[in-house]
This record gives sequence, C-alpha cells and structure tokens, in this order.
Amino acid sequence: MKRISYAIYCALFCFGIMSMSQLWAAEEGASKKSMELKQVKGEEGKVSTANVFNRLLKKDKARNLPPPEDGVHDADNEGTHVLQPPLIAYEGLPKTDFGNYVDWVQALQKGYLNPRYDRVDPTVEPLVMDLDIVREVKASVPDVVFPHKPHTQWLHCSNCHPAIFIPQKNANQINMSAILLGQKCGVCHGKVSFPITTLSCKKCHSKPKPDNWKPPLSSASVKNPWR
Ligand code: HEC
Ligand code: HEC
Ligand code: HEC
Repeated sequence: MKRISYAIYCALFCFGIMSMSQLWAAEEGASKKSMELKQVKGEEGKVSTANVFNRLLKKDKARNLPPPEDGVHDADNEGTHVLQPPLIAYEGLPKTDFGNYVDWVQALQKGYLNPRYDRVDPTVEPLVMDLDIVREVKASVPDVVFPHKPHTQWLHCSNCHPAIFIPQKNANQINMSAILLGQKCGVCHGKVSFPITTLSCKKCHSKPKPDNWKPPLSSASVKNPWR
C-alpha cells in the first residue's frame, strides 16, 4: 500500500516538474515572441505598411480616408477639415486594384492631370527621357523593365541619380528584400507610388522569359556537375 502511494506521489511530483518546465518554456517562448514583435514594431517607421505582400506588417484597414481620419493630418487643425477628401478628388481617374486605387501613370498620360513641374514657375516643362532598362532576373519570374518615361514625367533625374541608383545599367544591386525594406525601388514604391502587393508584381516584372530560358547555373555547378 505504501509502495503504491509512493509511486503515485512520485508520478504527481514528476508531472509537477514537467508541467512547471513546460510553463517555463511557454513563458520563455512568449517573451521571445514579444521581443520579436517589438523588433518588428521598431521597424514600422522605416518600412511601409502599404507593401501588404510583407505579411509581418500590419495591414491598412482602409485607404483614402478623409484627412481628419487618415492618421496623417492633424484633426485638431481647422485647415485639415478644408482639404478635399481623396475619394472625391480621385473620382473619374483611371483605376488600379492596389495602393490608393488610382493609376497615376494613365491619369497623367491620358491628360486627366496636368501637374506643375516646378512649384513656383508654371512654365517649367519636365525633362522626359524614354529609356527602358531591362533587368534580367535570375529567378523564374518575368524580367523587370524599369521605364524612365513614366518616372521622368513625375520626377527629376536627381530624385534617383546618383543617390538611389548609379546611372549605369546593372551597376546597382537590386533585390526584393531591399525593395520591401524601403530601399532601391522601395524608396518610393509602397510610399508615394504603387506598392508591392501580389497584384502588382507584373507591373515591374513585365517582360516574359524567352521560351528556352533555363535557370542560370553557378560556376561551381558548371565545373562539377553532380551527374
Ligand atoms: C525613378 C528613378 C530614376 C529617375 C527619376 C531617373 N533614372 Fe536613370 N536609371 C534608373 C535606374 C533604376 C537605372 C538602371 C540602373 C541599373 O540597371 O543598375 C537607370 C539608368 C540610367 C542610365 C544608364 C543607362 C545605361 O544604358 O547604362 C542613364 C544614362 C540614366 N539612367 C539617366 C537618367 C536621366 C538623364 C534621368 C532624368 C531625365 C534619369 N536617368 C532619371 C532610375 C532613374
Ligand atoms: C517596384 C517594382 C517591383 C515590384 C512591384 C515587384 N518586383 Fe520583384 N524585383 C524587382 C527588381 C528591380 C528586382 C531585381 C532584379 C535584378 O535582379 O536586377 C526584383 C527581383 C525579384 C526576384 C528575384 C529574387 C530577388 O529578390 O532579387 C523575385 C523572385 C521577385 N522579384 C518576385 C516578385 C514578386 C513575387 C512580386 C510581387 C509580390 C514582385 N517581385 C514585385 C522589382 C519589383
Ligand atoms: C524616386 C521615386 C521612385 C523610385 C526610386 C522608383 N519609382 Fe517607379 N514610379 C515612381 C512614380 C512616382 C511612378 C508613377 C506613379 C505610380 O505609378 O504610382 C512610378 C511608376 C512605376 C511603374 C509604372 C509604369 C506604368 O506604366 O504604370 C513601374 C513599372 C515602376 N515605377 C518600376 C520601378 C522600378 C522597377 C524601380 C526600381 C528599379 C522604380 N520604379 C523606382 C517613383 C519611383
């Protein structure tokens, strides 16, 4: 009888230790998780939340809210309430499925908009350059075409050259991680121009791979083929 109760006691004791260690592990996991969350939180200022492709980032619930509700403008300021709400301002403009749902390139090219190129001098014309740069992507996604034309209709050369991009084909290393972190194309895309979402990939990845395309082999695998 004594033996049995000893066994039960032992089992209970062991169970106790086990659940305590489990609890401890769970607590450790939880504090790790909150640390991770804190790290992501710290990145929030640097990384655009419009790039909803990045699942670590919180999604914007609503877009194009009126200025007093958009979290950007000061609702206590009288001037904020005088501003035209985006939904009214954007009415009739060509649409897209992402960002603020306006196709700004079409809006400009079809003449819906006529923005002033210089803040003070209304006679200054943009310096438009029609030069497409194709960036061959090693992965199987379509290649990237960077079109200078729609960019230089809005921007000055010095907005990109030389601070963001050295003006020489393939002189810059660009990849998706950098873009999603707000560098390279991501300096603007996801902030002031269309964001990276699963619907916008083909805006940049617009040149299909040739039919005979094969993934490039590294020099090591060419020298020492495994078969
Ligand atoms: C929105 C950003 C942006 C703007 C604005 C811009 N460029 Fe570029 N430019 C690029 C990118 C990206 C490349 C490609 C770099 C690469 O492949 O590494 C490039 C490449 C170039 C090249 C190299 C072409 C080649 O074949 O090697 C020249 C020259 C150039 N740009 C001139 C200009 C001029 C002139 C303007 C203004 C009229 C301008 N760019 C405006 C982003 C921009
Ligand atoms: C704003 C333009 C832009 C958008 C939008 C975009 N990409 Fe990219 N992507 C690039 C550029 C530029 C590169 C680098 C190309 C190179 O190697 O020179 C790239 C590279 C890649 C690569 C190769 C690996 C790497 O990181 O370099 C993959 C895969 C890729 N993109 C997938 C996607 C997918 C999937 C989407 C949509 C969710 C997407 N891209 C949206 C511009 C874009
Ligand atoms: C300095 C800001 C800036 C940078 C950097 C930038 N873009 Fe853009 N991009 C714009 C603006 C502004 C537009 C026009 C508004 C829009 O479409 O959202 C635009 C439009 C585009 C378009 C749409 C063209 C169309 O016909 O609809 C493509 C494609 C594009 N960018 C690709 C890229 C790629 C690829 C890179 C990086 C190599 C890049 N952009 C870097 C600001 C930028």
